[in-house]
Amino acid sequence: MKGVVLRHPLSSRIMHFVNMVCWYILFLTGAAVYFRLVSGAEAAMLMNVHILAGLVLTVTVVSYLLIAPDRVFLFLQEVLNWDRDTLAWWKNFGGYPYRFLKGTKLYKYLERFWFAKPGAPPQSKYNAGQKLLGITVVFSLAVLGLTGWMLFFFRQALGKDGVWLFFNAHVWIAILVTLFVTFVHVPLVVINWPDFVSMFRIGSGTVPVEWAIEHNPKWFERDVVEVVESRKD
Ligand code: HEM
Repeated sequence: MKGVVLRHPLSSRIMHFVNMVCWYILFLTGAAVYFRLVSGAEAAMLMNVHILAGLVLTVTVVSYLLIAPDRVFLFLQEVLNWDRDTLAWWKNFGGYPYRFLKGTKLYKYLERFWFAKPGAPPQSKYNAGQKLLGITVVFSLAVLGLTGWMLFFFRQALGKDGVWLFFNAHVWIAILVTLFVTFVHVPLVVINWPDFVSMFRIGSGTVPVEWAIEHNPKWFERDVVEVVESRKD
């Protein structure tokens, strides 16, 4: 079958791009100050950049919620829907350990284990790992935004224990999610090249039909409708 399927509409791609840029600015500026890689005027300047990036991200998230509530609803519906195939995916992590290790000496030893078996149960628009990422990102954006702005505006009202709790939640959730995104999400999207291209290329956020059928058969069957381009002959 020829053709393309829309995977990432423009609003989601803008949201993802702004989130990605702001996230890493927030992480690098926050980490530099927290781990005392800078001090004095430099630290104060980086904190100003940190607050500014937090403001841009907050405004973008709130705007996305208001401008594209349909995308937000569909995204939440997708990442929160864990059926039998979603759970089955975790048995062998969708076949990724097999894909990475097959042909190596290590695989000869690991092949008897359930997590190294090939194959993956059919997935919907996101596979089980992407669903976990989606839930993690929604949760962490909410907690980091809330704790960050509370520490900025209401530090006195939080009291000593409140500041300790909010500050540590802010720092450690940011570090854990950044490690997850950097060392799991980014490498996996790069090897799923058509998905990567559809997220970042200038133009439409589409993937080839064959790719969609192979990776996300349940999504293709359930949600994709055929649109034939009209031709003037
Ligand atoms: C260099 C950094 C990054 C790259 C190259 C990248 C790339 C991608 C790509 C290609 C997709 C589409 C594939 C998919 O649906 O899984 C995607 C989706 C997603 N990414 Fe990233 N990403 C990056 C950073 C981040 C960061 C920092 C976050 C959040 C902390 C994030 C959260 C998400 C989420 C929630 C999705 C699913 C949303 C959607 O498909 O609309 N990404 N990313």
